Amino acid sequence: MPNPLIYRVQINQATIELIEGDITKQTTDAIVNAANASLLGGGGVDGAIHRAAGSELLAETRTLGGCQTGDAKITRGYKLKAKFVIHGVGPIYQAHNTLVQQQLASVYRRSMELAEANGIRTISFPSISTGAYGYPVEEAAPIALKAVIDYVIQHNGFERVAFILFNEQITETYAHALAQLAKLYPDIIKVL
Ligand code: APR
Repeated sequence: MPNPLIYRVQINQATIELIEGDITKQTTDAIVNAANASLLGGGGVDGAIHRAAGSELLAETRTLGGCQTGDAKITRGYKLKAKFVIHGVGPIYQAHNTLVQQQLASVYRRSMELAEANGIRTISFPSISTGAYGYPVEEAAPIALKAVIDYVIQHNGFERVAFILFNEQITETYAHALAQLAKLYPDIIKVL
């Protein structure tokens, strides 16, 4: 029985990995914020990133005029180790709602597009929408991973994409979803 949990894969020259940790501590070129449409800060990841980046981050996000659900906008990282913050707005969960599923996939895709357009080659994502926005992790993980895997298969601008997951349970849920997806792309996804 192949390993039911997978934490690292290689697709072309890109590594996708799952790490239990705090997104504000990551040293990737960019970290992605689980923001709300106002882009004016909040709790969870949003609160942690704004606290770590300092007040200049809010001063910049104020100039952006908000962000649609499923879309993303980019700012500098200020006091963070990461040079950039990509503010992605995930959907608020509604069961059996295909629009919400599309919006969740879209926020990952749009974040990757923005990163590539800004020459970013290493990026860290949180588990968007699975906190205050109520998205069950076991439903969000396959959507998030597939959106990133499909992007990395079609574009070769990335070296490393990390999912920074806040506890062991979330990390294992993503590792199970990654193992399932790896079976769908046996010739493309190399398990590390
Ligand atoms: N690093 C990594 N992951 C974190 C961190 C952190 N420092 N803090 C929280 N998380 C995890 C949560 O455990 C959850 O799995 O990030 C995931 C997303 O949770 P939220 O931050 O609540 O984001 P979301 O569910 O997308 O809700 C967004 O909450 O903070 C407000 O302004 C934000 O209105 C927006 C809403």
